[in-house]
Amino acid sequence: MAPVSVWLLFSVILVISLHAIDAGRDFYSILGVPKSATTNQIKKAYRKLAKELHPDKNKDDSDADEKFKDLGAAYEALSDPEKRETYDRCGEECLQKEGMGGGGMDPFASFFGDFGFGFGFGGQERGHEVARGADIAMDLWVTLEELYSGNFVEVVRNKPVIKPARGTRKCNCRPEMVTRQLGPGRFQMTQQTVCDECPNVRLENEERVLEVEVEPGMVDGQEHRFVAEGEPHIDGEPGDLLFVVRTHPHDRFHRKGDDLYTNVTISLQDALTGFEMDIEHLDGHKVHIKREKVTWPGARIRRKGEGMPNYENNNLYGMLYITFDIEFPKKDFTEEEKEELRKILNQDSVNKVYNGL
Ligand SMILES: *[C@@H]1O[C@H](CO)[C@@H](O)[C@H](O)[C@H]1NC(C)=O
Repeated sequence: MAPVSVWLLFSVILVISLHAIDAGRDFYSILGVPKSATTNQIKKAYRKLAKELHPDKNKDDSDADEKFKDLGAAYEALSDPEKRETYDRCGEECLQKEGMGGGGMDPFASFFGDFGFGFGFGGQERGHEVARGADIAMDLWVTLEELYSGNFVEVVRNKPVIKPARGTRKCNCRPEMVTRQLGPGRFQMTQQTVCDECPNVRLENEERVLEVEVEPGMVDGQEHRFVAEGEPHIDGEPGDLLFVVRTHPHDRFHRKGDDLYTNVTISLQDALTGFEMDIEHLDGHKVHIKREKVTWPGARIRRKGEGMPNYENNNLYGMLYITFDIEFPKKDFTEEEKEELRKILNQDSVNKVYNGL
């Protein structure tokens, strides 16, 4: 090859590789999701990785901060449909050019309030003296479908936020013993409240959007905690905001632990001759049922793995119990039909009288 073309080839390679660097980070591989991932999958992946890669948990890894930042940037770009579209079209560089790039987002700003737990700024270390605003508990009503598949729910909260104001106010008030001499050898000790002067503040309502993850398999009454999103306290720390999972009753399924219960009405004919049917599950998949035997009223069959996902291990599912109810024909039979039925069924009359309680 002539030296010129070697150089040409080399520069082409150089340009290509420079371009690859320029195009920015691969947000999909950072999050470990396919290009086709849904927003929910992206959020889920982010949530999981954010816990794993949190710098507080990876103090030995010198790249921990960098990795965590990459993750934050990936999430920011891909969780927003508009930004994701831009990113898919022309990469990170382009996202930044169009002014949609990473605004140094704080991954704890919403969504991960509950991360405080176990990362060092949580409950235990709080001094006892520090005043604290009240915790707020809110019911979060979810459907059984959401508990089966998982979902992200946005909650807008009007939160009182402390803002600076003019003037001063009394603060850090504490009881102190004051000794006063009443006469020779006579003292009086009284407890007095002593305060400092602090710059004044006022509470102003601000809208905050919190994103609460309904995790698959969560149970009724389970709490989801957002640290420091509760009532503020002027002299101390804000309380926490607690979402308590509440399940709407479902018209087809009833949940007990990880098991699901459902009722199915079949015709007398199907009960006697067998049948095949599909039951639509909570995420739309079909549970196929086939019976050839006689099904009696109240008969119950079970399907392993068709219950609710287990909260601790989403790969485990409970049981689905199906109870059958028989619809008898409403019409009266003719004498000939009755004779035929007797012939077919050929049952001895059973007239057992028993205590029905
Ligand atoms: C099934 O039927 C029983 C008895 O009528 C009832 O108590 C139960 O609530 C029903 N279950 C569902 C999921 O509708």
